[in-house]
Amino acid sequence: MCGIVGYIGYREAQPIIVKGLKRLEYRGYDSAGIALFDGKEINVTKTKGKVSDLEEKILNGNNTSGTIGIGHTRWATHGIPNDVNSHPHYSNSGDLVIIHNGIIENYATIKQELENRGYVFQSDTDTEVLVNLIEDVQKNGNFKLGKAVQVALNQVIGAYAIAVFDLKKPNEIIAARLGSPLAIGVGEGEFFIASDASPFIEYTNNAIYLEDEEMAIIRLHKDTKIRNITNDRLVSPYVQELKLNLEEIEKGGYEHFMLKEIFEQPEAIKDTYRGRLNVSKGIIKMAGVEDHLETFLNAQKITIVACGTSWHAGLVAEYVFEKLARIPVEVEYASEFRYRNPVISNKDVVIAISQSGETADTLAAIKLAKENGAFVFGVCNVVGSSISRETHSGAYTHAGPEIGVASTKAFTTQITLLTLIALRLAKAKGTLSNSDYKRYLVELETIPSKVEEVLEADKLTKMIGEIYKDASNFLYLGRGFNFPVALEGALKLKEISYIHAEGYPAAEMKHGPIALIDENMPIVVIATKYGHYEKIVSNIQEIKSRKGKIIGIVTKGDTQVKSIADHIIEVPESSELLSPLLTTIPLQLLSYYIAILLNKNVDQPRNLAKSVTVE
Ligand code: F6R
Repeated sequence: MCGIVGYIGYREAQPIIVKGLKRLEYRGYDSAGIALFDGKEINVTKTKGKVSDLEEKILNGNNTSGTIGIGHTRWATHGIPNDVNSHPHYSNSGDLVIIHNGIIENYATIKQELENRGYVFQSDTDTEVLVNLIEDVQKNGNFKLGKAVQVALNQVIGAYAIAVFDLKKPNEIIAARLGSPLAIGVGEGEFFIASDASPFIEYTNNAIYLEDEEMAIIRLHKDTKIRNITNDRLVSPYVQELKLNLEEIEKGGYEHFMLKEIFEQPEAIKDTYRGRLNVSKGIIKMAGVEDHLETFLNAQKITIVACGTSWHAGLVAEYVFEKLARIPVEVEYASEFRYRNPVISNKDVVIAISQSGETADTLAAIKLAKENGAFVFGVCNVVGSSISRETHSGAYTHAGPEIGVASTKAFTTQITLLTLIALRLAKAKGTLSNSDYKRYLVELETIPSKVEEVLEADKLTKMIGEIYKDASNFLYLGRGFNFPVALEGALKLKEISYIHAEGYPAAEMKHGPIALIDENMPIVVIATKYGHYEKIVSNIQEIKSRKGKIIGIVTKGDTQVKSIADHIIEVPESSELLSPLLTTIPLQLLSYYIAILLNKNVDQPRNLAKSVTVE
């Protein structure tokens, strides 16, 4: 849940590392730090706060020259966010310095043993324990740094992506990973180390992604050596050419990444189905599905595992798969699934959904499903991510980098991809008539332009946000395919504006939440034309009688809800099945504007991080 960056080469390392850390702030942003080697000594600057606070400290602080360095942006696990707990951390001798993303679960035992041997600790972190363990191993075994790191890592339980530097060996950095991502950028006479490729993409397109249990010995003017930490075998480095470009990871004129990503949805949805959907030929083709079609078709059930917004996309998919392909679907929080004893066997297909492809709970759920013999299919956005590698097969959403912590385009592209899969299976199983199949294909292709139309409600949504920004609670209601959208709308509002919000199936309102309704309660109701419309109108009447404020998301031209609701936001007509791709948009905009009007940091909401690589 932290971001790490390292550089070894011929350029000044500080600006590269600081810029890189800014790009990684989506992974955590409660403190930041940098260690630079100036040819004689290591200078560390670190602070509680964001990378911009670190920059300020650098400007007013000590020497930050040097062509070798490591930096860190933190999301606290062990020890509160403060200057001392910020990374990098020194070993007791002052020779070793480390940055770490992950958790060392047995750090307390190791710390006790080291304390018994005279080590003292400045911080409350597990990372300072790790760097001292490495030092202890190095001294006792008279090992080179690489060997010491390897031996030490074999003693720890937990997850890590680390970079370690030794003052006595100033031409090398050791990097290693288990459970947390780590990429090495390979340039001409220079190397970069980072949690993802964004910090080095303007310097090199060549990257090595370390696998779990691998460590890299990165030396100036030498080839990088990669070794398996457990079995000590050398691994040949696989250098990938990256397609990512710099504009994709910058704001492109928008005030915030979240707004940019909301507006990118028409293109992102197109990118998801591009090359997979051929409407004129009536074909959906995805290699990851095609290669395992029989497995999907013979599945006794599909279990979807995911967290947060991705879990909501899974809930939409449950409706879609069951309606189109008539395969029973269960949707599980990955964090729950992994700790119970789920009934999963080799007759099951498990679909893991994850934007980042790094969510620890989802990864653990995948491992459990595999152990039970299930076929596991990944739906990820980040290419080369851990989940995409851990699954038997999968498909990328191709939404492009999502930097804003609140997920937006990831949600709609996940739904698009899962709908494509469901349609493909329905076609193969014959559970959908040819005419319905073709109708959905044609309609899917119209979705991007319909999303563009919904985005025109931008100003109207802002105006509605102005009216309700000071409410303490919101309720979101939807039915059927739009029930998960209600959950997602509530999550978006909570996470970036800190207003309490709940999503409910509209009919459940009368079983409890109705007691909350009074003239101060704004209620967002998804009431599109197809799908229980009359029932939802009755629910809206019930809200009206209790003086609740109604914001209706309705189909263009609607008159009935318009006559009752306080506000309406129109979306173009669509089938019920595809309507979540449209109804979600105004809810994203509403939460964005409310958060902006309340002066909240929408791209980096408090206590959150984009990629949750800890349990
Ligand atoms: C909400 C949000 C989170 C993520 C969740 C799973 O806006 O971003 O709830 O959806 O942490 O993340 P991924 O999809 O990366 O596994």
